[in-house]
Amino acid sequence: MSVSYYIETYGCQMNVADSELIEGVLKEQGLILSHDINTADVIMVNTCAVRDHAEAKVHTRLGQFHKIKRQRPDVLIGVLGCMAQHLKNDLLENKPYVDIVLGPDSYRRLPEILRRKQEKKHIVDTKLSKYEVYDNLFPSRKEGINAWVSIMRGCDKFCTFCIVPFTRGRERSRRIESIVHEVTKAVADGFVEVTLLGQNVNSFKTGDKQFPDLLDSVAQVPGLQRIRYTSPHPQDVDSELLDVMAKHKNICNSIHLPLQAGSDRILKRMNRTYTKKHFMALADQIRNNLPGVGISTDIIVGFPGETEAEFQETLDVMHHVKFDSAFTFKYSSRPHTKAAEYTDHISEDVKQNRLERMITLQKEHTLFRNQEVVGSVLSVMVEKESKRSTDQWAGRTDSNKWVLFDKVNASVKEIVSVKINRAHGVSLHGSLVNKGVNDEVDKNI
Ligand code: 5AD
Ligand code: SF4
Repeated sequence: MSVSYYIETYGCQMNVADSELIEGVLKEQGLILSHDINTADVIMVNTCAVRDHAEAKVHTRLGQFHKIKRQRPDVLIGVLGCMAQHLKNDLLENKPYVDIVLGPDSYRRLPEILRRKQEKKHIVDTKLSKYEVYDNLFPSRKEGINAWVSIMRGCDKFCTFCIVPFTRGRERSRRIESIVHEVTKAVADGFVEVTLLGQNVNSFKTGDKQFPDLLDSVAQVPGLQRIRYTSPHPQDVDSELLDVMAKHKNICNSIHLPLQAGSDRILKRMNRTYTKKHFMALADQIRNNLPGVGISTDIIVGFPGETEAEFQETLDVMHHVKFDSAFTFKYSSRPHTKAAEYTDHISEDVKQNRLERMITLQKEHTLFRNQEVVGSVLSVMVEKESKRSTDQWAGRTDSNKWVLFDKVNASVKEIVSVKINRAHGVSLHGSLVNKGVNDEVDKNI
């Protein structure tokens, strides 16, 4: 009888992509996917270490896996991904029910490891590689609109708050031909959108080719309707990138530009390599070069030593850029990182208070940006039924805003023209104008 596996994924899109890769490896070996944790032969969790909260969730989950192992001692339990690296000792000493610990560069070994598990020994491999990019392995994707395509792995930036360079190792890029081949296959499999992924997507480099060259090649894949990418580092956003975005209609008009903080002293302490002034000028340049662009960001509050005045500088940048959306986080101290050694940590109360003020401001800006498009006709990819009403579609604009509109004469995966009637909360409400993209789309009427 076939062996079945169950997999749970925590963390960023890179982990979602890695889990699809892992599933590809397992399915090729004849294992079958199970959605029932209580009957699966192999239970795996793909973990995230970026904040304390993400790790805590996995620990709780492992407690539940432990109960299953007591009832079914033959089940295999695997901890994969970013927590494997720095928790391997804890896992081995305190969680003996965990059979397999594999870091992000060891997934190729899974078939051999599952065969060896007959020997009932714990298997640990958290070695990081300078070369592994999983070229020539094909992810097993769920059917849908968007295919995640990993283009580079690791990070060499060493922002002082971030654990990623320690859990995922050094930066390395895939070959352009291999990426284009994977994208072509995804289109043949029915995907209409791809999101190119990397911890530092615009550090992509192979030979003399850089990220804008890759985008240019991917944009020419026949039948590919939309391309997104995440996350770029502001330091490496240049006019070539903006030019290639402007040149191809299928490269979405949206950019995720992680700010992290607004004060020059904090940015320096974070090792972010840009200043407040540079960031604001870059955002202006992006809005000037790409009319109608959506800009989203990541911001951390309460980095060690952050004063109220320095926090206000982050709010200054927010006022200036008026991000379309933002992911906001309380600083979480991470092992191995430089910032963990700083002695001037900020109290939880202060962090919480700053976070709440920031979220309130961001809600105003999201509404401001959404109101700007009221009255225009935008091209919207129909993605799914609205959660609120079975009579409505939910779709995304090129600039990454959700739009709800009545279900008439359109189907999932189609790009349609929608007149935006009103902005409410984080979404837009509109009505279908006509099918297909035309020249009027994205212009104010
Ligand atoms: N604490 C809080 N947020 C963090 N991030 C990364 N490391 C930390 C940390 N130690 C945030 C950054 C990054 C996003 C993916 O997670 O904002 O851009
Ligand atoms: Fe972490 Fe900075 Fe690298 Fe992003 S660029 S993964 S925040 S070290």
